[in-house]
Amino acid sequence: MDFSAWVEPYEFFSAKKMGTTNSAPVFDRSVDPPLFLGVVANDVYLDAFEQVLGENAQSSTMLQRFIRLSTAQCPKIDLSECQLEGLRYLAGGEEATCGICNSSDYPGIIPTECPFKPDLPTNLWQNTDVEGVKYTDRACCEIGSNFPSETIMSTTTTTTLVVGATGATGKHVVLQLLQQKQHVRAIARSKQRLLDTLNEISPNASEEYAAFLTVTEAAVLDLSDEELENLCSGCDACVSCLGHNMTFQGVFGKPRHLVTDAAKRICHAIETNQSKEKESKIQMVKFILMGSDGVANPNGQDEKRTFGERFLIFLLRYLIPPHRDNETAAAYISGKTDNPNLEWTVIRPTDLIDGSVTKYELLPRPPGSLFGDGVATRSNVAKSMVDMILTQSLWDEWKFKMPVLHDLN
Ligand SMILES: NC(=O)c1ccc[n+]([C@@H]2O[C@H](COP(=O)([O-])OP(=O)(O)OC[C@H]3O[C@@H](n4cnc5c(N)ncnc54)[C@H](OP(=O)(O)O)[C@@H]3O)[C@@H](O)[C@H]2O)c1
Repeated sequence: MDFSAWVEPYEFFSAKKMGTTNSAPVFDRSVDPPLFLGVVANDVYLDAFEQVLGENAQSSTMLQRFIRLSTAQCPKIDLSECQLEGLRYLAGGEEATCGICNSSDYPGIIPTECPFKPDLPTNLWQNTDVEGVKYTDRACCEIGSNFPSETIMSTTTTTTLVVGATGATGKHVVLQLLQQKQHVRAIARSKQRLLDTLNEISPNASEEYAAFLTVTEAAVLDLSDEELENLCSGCDACVSCLGHNMTFQGVFGKPRHLVTDAAKRICHAIETNQSKEKESKIQMVKFILMGSDGVANPNGQDEKRTFGERFLIFLLRYLIPPHRDNETAAAYISGKTDNPNLEWTVIRPTDLIDGSVTKYELLPRPPGSLFGDGVATRSNVAKSMVDMILTQSLWDEWKFKMPVLHDLN
């Protein structure tokens, strides 16, 4: 459509000067019918017009010119029935269609969406989300795919406390948040080990993202209540990737309830902070716990395990303290339903492997056997946590649940 619109001059928020905006729809004309992609707009100060045209830009003559320029004729488009169906689907979903064509037959009309990325800016009335971001980095997806670009900037600014930050999964959570220019407060028994670990995954990361990372060097359970409260204060999310080290001391020694006690103390710290906030300004916090698909959902909605699997879990529970710790941590968190400002999820990956970020799926319950039924890379576990922190719609889908994570091939 060869159409452009000029709006009535108005005062620009940032420059406090009068200006106007010229906008035009953008179509992908490589498909038939052309696919509406969005609107491109350009702001122009009125004094620029005055310079070029030698006329008072706010005069009625000038306004008439703007109106005349904005007048366009609607183009005539010949659409097939399936194309029409596609447009109905686009506007109103399946219910809006007449059932003439299969949705898979809609010819090139449905844009491929980038998953987990909201369409709307954080602040609709003053969109500064992409301020200062390069045009290439504003794009949602990798070229030719519907997978979010690695370079995409998140549109929100968050602060996340990460415990278990030096772990095989925790390190990816820290790095991926930093790569999204999000603030991270990490608790680690060795700060240097954390920084070295980050640099191993991404050379120079510790320096590149230094401004976004603060590290508290301590064993999480050694911190006082007050220290934990300070660390949780102002956080949008807290992530626990804690796990017992696979040494004799780690598995059978103290602290036997590392994961559970840390979850309890962090939740307590969050709630103490909230109790000091004004009722109308209580900060909602997301708590994300890393679990395992060997931990059953205490709500009883997982499929019943086979006798063999139940027997093995029974043995693990009584012989291997870390498994029991993961179970009690999940039970504690899933019982936290008394505070509307403390939302949680327990991500239960299937068999963990090392590997890069790929596509993953979240399932409401384990789909099959405890053994050999899929894998999950630790980077994908981290990615799912980061996605949940940064994408409200994804969080809303999985909060108060215990999703099982599998890699998609
Ligand atoms: N298939 C599955 O679903 C599956 C498989 C494996 C694990 N998991 C669960 O996922 C969680 C994370 O696994 P992961 O492999 O990423 O963990 P990991 O590599 O073993 O990392 C454990 C983290 O916990 C910290 N930690 C250990 N003992 C601690 C203590 N006493 N005090 C403070 N911090 C301590 C470690 O810190 P340091 O670096 O200082 O030791 C490290 O940061 C665990 O709960 C695990 O049970 C699930």
